[in-house]
Amino acid sequence: MHEYRFSNALGYTFEQLADLHNRSFSGYFVPITMSAAQVSDFWRVNQIDANCCVVMHDSQGAFVGMARMGTRGTHGWCGGFGIVPEFRGTGASKILANEMVRVAKESGLTQLQLEVLTQNTAAIKLYERVGFVRQRRLLGLEIATSDLPVEPAGLINSVELASLLSWDPFYTVRPTWSLEIPSLLTGNSEALTIADPDDQLNAFIVRRANGIMQIQAVLLRSQLTASEYGALLRALAADCSKVQIYNEPEESPQIPHYKELGFNEFFSQYDMLLKL
Ligand SMILES: CC(C)(COP(=O)(O)OP(=O)(O)OC[C@H]1O[C@@H](n2cnc3c(N)ncnc32)[C@H](O)[C@@H]1OP(=O)(O)O)[C@@H](O)C(=O)NCCC(=O)NCCS
Repeated sequence: MHEYRFSNALGYTFEQLADLHNRSFSGYFVPITMSAAQVSDFWRVNQIDANCCVVMHDSQGAFVGMARMGTRGTHGWCGGFGIVPEFRGTGASKILANEMVRVAKESGLTQLQLEVLTQNTAAIKLYERVGFVRQRRLLGLEIATSDLPVEPAGLINSVELASLLSWDPFYTVRPTWSLEIPSLLTGNSEALTIADPDDQLNAFIVRRANGIMQIQAVLLRSQLTASEYGALLRALAADCSKVQIYNEPEESPQIPHYKELGFNEFFSQYDMLLKL
């Protein structure tokens, strides 16, 4: 029977946190190795709370695993949970998950949420065992920009993201943690407005990197056909060769448009919630 020790993340440098992340996520479905700079960005954008993170060692001091926790008011988010390969299948994951839930409760959180890849059976079973409940499916969608329709699109203007916050409603469906307003304001997002064919103004929050435009939020004032919507995306993408959407909730009103436009589903996750 192993004995374990837990600590928060206050005593670690970002270099060390990157190492713990990389070790606990080794062999993951997709490579998600992070540098210290990427970890620091991730913590800033997602309000990862060092006090609420749980780092697990065994009694000999070997690193076992880590649960990262973001907090916003009374809401918490598990933004990374991993056990190093040597301790997988030993029961350690359930002990870490229980400790994460205990810390969340002790911190006064009323709920803890997370996303998990739909093919990650071990993680899903584990989260369900400690009380998380699947809420909905979240889709990762992508298309080559050249496959989007070409139609005349209105003038695109870059605006301050904060100037869109009074848009009502800002969200038509509840976003995932990393697409909530605090993340949009602290990430490297661009806010753009574009008119539809009838001169109604619509707005998009996007992020561009490595020739890919990721759509993070869609604020529509007009009723658009799939083709008109696709043409707006093509105009916004400009020289980006691909358009992607991460974690689009299955109930999003944009899903029928994405399907009609031929977007490919390249991953899917479950949104899980634990009421504390
Ligand atoms: C996910 C992770 C924490 C699970 O820990 P683990 O020690 O490997 O999990 P376990 O072996 O205890 O498996 C958990 C449950 O899933 C079951 N399981 C494991 N692999 C399975 C599979 N391929 N198919 C079906 N069930 C499976 C186990 O039998 C166990 O069920 P039980 O409680 O009924 O016995 C660990 O594998 C890990 O860190 N992976 C890399 C990072 C990662 O995926 N993190 C989650 C991100 S959301």
